[in-house]
Amino acid sequence: MIIIKNKEQIEGVKKASKIAANTLKYVEPFIQEGVNTERLNQLCHDYMIQHDSIPATLNYHGFPKSICTSINNVVCHGIPSEKEILKSGDIVNIDVTAIHNGYYGDCSKTYIIGEAKPEVIDFVKRTENSLNLAIKALRPGNLLSIVGTTIQTYVEQFSYSVVREYGGHGVGVHFHEDPHVSHFYTRDNDIKLKKGMIFTIEPMINLSKNWRVVTCKKDGWTVRTQDKSLSAQFEHTVLITHDSYEILTLPDEG
Ligand code: MF3
Ligand code: CO
Ligand code: CO
Repeated sequence: MIIIKNKEQIEGVKKASKIAANTLKYVEPFIQEGVNTERLNQLCHDYMIQHDSIPATLNYHGFPKSICTSINNVVCHGIPSEKEILKSGDIVNIDVTAIHNGYYGDCSKTYIIGEAKPEVIDFVKRTENSLNLAIKALRPGNLLSIVGTTIQTYVEQFSYSVVREYGGHGVGVHFHEDPHVSHFYTRDNDIKLKKGMIFTIEPMINLSKNWRVVTCKKDGWTVRTQDKSLSAQFEHTVLITHDSYEILTLPDEG
C-alpha cells in the first residue's frame, strides 16, 4: 500500500531529508585518501544526533552502523570499518538515512578519492546524470516506470548495467515503504504518479554489462558485483507535487 502523504507528513519528511542531506554535506570534506570509513561513520552519527535525529540504519535489521560505505565493487550496504582505509583512485558511496520526529529522509552520493582514470570519472558522472534525468521525468499522471526506462536507456548506451536486485522505495513514515522503485523498466511500475507520493530513486550502476550481485556470506550485508566491476550509486528522496516534483534531499546552502 502506497502512503500518500498529507501536509503534516510532508513537512516532517522534508525536515528529515534536509538533515540527511546536510549530514552528507558535512562529512564531504573528510572523505579523503587515508581516512577510514569508521571515522566517516562516527562523524555522520554525531552530526545526526546533534541535529535532533537518529541514524536509521543503526540496528536496522541488525545493520551495525549509522551509514553505509560502499567502496569500488561494493554495490550497497557496505559496513564502515576502521580497517577500511580510502586510497587514491577509489570510489565510495556514502548513504545516509536520518529519522527526525519519526519521519525518514534518505540520500547517497558516490565520491572519487584523489585521482581516478577518466573512464571512472565518466562512469560516476553518468550514474549521477541517470538519477537527475529520471527525476526530471517525474510529474503526476506519468507512470512510475518512467524512472526505470529513463535510467536504463541512458546508462545502457555506455555498456553499463542497472542492478536489478535492489531499487528505490517509498519513504517517509517508514524507512522502506511501497512502492518498490525499479531502475530498469518493469511493467510492475506502470502505476500513475500522484501528488503526495514520496519515494527514493537510487540507481546502482555497474561498469560492465553484468548486473548481477553477490551478498557477502561472512557479514550478511556487503553486496558486491558478481564480476568485481565497479559500481556507483546516487540517491535522492523526492516528492510528487501538484504539477511536478521536489527533491527533498538537497542540503542547505552555504
Ligand atoms: N539507505 C539504504 C537505502 O537507500 C538502506 C540501507 S539499509 C542497511 O535504502 F541496513 F543496510 F543500512
Ligand atoms: Co539510502
Ligand atoms: Co533508499
